[in-house]
Amino acid sequence: MIMLMNSCQPGETAYPISHTRIPSSIKPPILLRGINLGNALDAPSPGEWGVNITPEMIEAIRAAGFNSIRVPVRFSAHAGASAPYRIQPEFLALVDGIVDQGLEAGMIVILDFHHFDEMMQDPAGQTDRFLAIWEQLSEHYQNAPESLYFELLNEPGDPLNAQSWNALADECIKVIRKKNPRRILLIGGSGFNSIESLAQLKLPNDKYLIATFHFYVPFNFTHQGASWVDGSNNWIGTRWEGNSAERQTIIDLLDRAASWSSQYKIPVMMDEFGVIASADENSRQRWIEFVAREAEKRNISWLYWEFCSEFKVYDCHQSSWDLQLLNALIPEQ
Ligand code: BGC
Repeated sequence: MIMLMNSCQPGETAYPISHTRIPSSIKPPILLRGINLGNALDAPSPGEWGVNITPEMIEAIRAAGFNSIRVPVRFSAHAGASAPYRIQPEFLALVDGIVDQGLEAGMIVILDFHHFDEMMQDPAGQTDRFLAIWEQLSEHYQNAPESLYFELLNEPGDPLNAQSWNALADECIKVIRKKNPRRILLIGGSGFNSIESLAQLKLPNDKYLIATFHFYVPFNFTHQGASWVDGSNNWIGTRWEGNSAERQTIIDLLDRAASWSSQYKIPVMMDEFGVIASADENSRQRWIEFVAREAEKRNISWLYWEFCSEFKVYDCHQSSWDLQLLNALIPEQ
């Protein structure tokens, strides 16, 4: 596990903002540098989007120097449609296998409820199901080490507006807290986890919460040619040179996240950021390196989106890293 030391004067804490609420055994100085295992268990069915997570992949991530993984899971595709909304045991066993491998490798593992599409269509109609799924997960993982974090819901968005999301998140925290009083929970703003939507996020007074945001700015660069984004073919060829105007846009946004964190005394982390693999390689490298280092300067943990699919930094068939991008994420010492 990488321990990043901040130089600080005696009496000062190394991470005054981001990690003040992390419990003793995983206390500062630790900053997460992680990878999303995307397009695997968040696909409609495991393997459908071409990614099957293996122990070798998790070992490759650990050996490269990352200290955390985020595991996006489409629980809604594997839970009953009516009460008691039971999660299929064989699917949960698959999730367990990956979670356990990450924890055994000494990493922080973020278990994230991803792609809950029905919730984004009918929040009121899916509330009981959402809470029942979390109640089961909470019970199932109650004895897991504190290095397992839960993330309530990936990218909540319209019609789940700020008000309804704040209320739902609050209810969900109460459900999870019955069995997991001190587990770290990640919650992002209702505007698809944008930095801007942190301003409307209202969290209860709970020492073990971290606010999360996703970062894909400028979107026409990071998502050029993305099949799921209308009109993105017009952006193909967009580069990121790292000129002062381009840098300033990123600096201003990350400053905004950091000042929200210090104002509300809630740590923030960036648990998705990345660039599509078809973008110009040198632009990808410049952007990834700049965003990761700027986040670190603000004590903001980060997790790259994602390992070996459309935004990849690793080739699963060759079992090899894109070394230029790996070095942008984790610079050689
Ligand atoms: C979505 C992915 C998408 C990524 C980048 C994630 O939160 O779940 O499907 O590829 O963001 O847009």
